[in-house]
Amino acid sequence: MPKTEQKHFAGTVQELKNKGRLVATVNGMEIGIFLVNGAYYAWRNICPHGGAPVCEGVVCGTRLPSLVYEYRYGRDREIVRCPWHGWEFDLLTGRHLADESVRLRGYRVEETDGELYVFV
Ligand code: FES
Repeated sequence: MPKTEQKHFAGTVQELKNKGRLVATVNGMEIGIFLVNGAYYAWRNICPHGGAPVCEGVVCGTRLPSLVYEYRYGRDREIVRCPWHGWEFDLLTGRHLADESVRLRGYRVEETDGELYVFV
């Protein structure tokens, strides 16, 4: 029988906005919550490469497909770069940008009256 999710308070929207992200300990796990293009996303703060606190990495964009000698930057603030070795993950899907078989563990997140809750 599958376990059911439980709703856990993680912090406030204001805390997230002050820091650019919110890393909270929920049910004994660190989970990073990000606001991207008006929606919330929650990811476990463990990089699948080597266990780094990936949610504390730089939030940035990435190079877009382009022609030879062209450099196109896009998806600004939709990517998190792991602080240890630079692996980049899509904050909307949790997927590694170069290897879709590698991904962050995600959680459902909900905002109610300025408070953020994750379902674990
Ligand atoms: S631990 Fe994250 S890229 Fe190596």
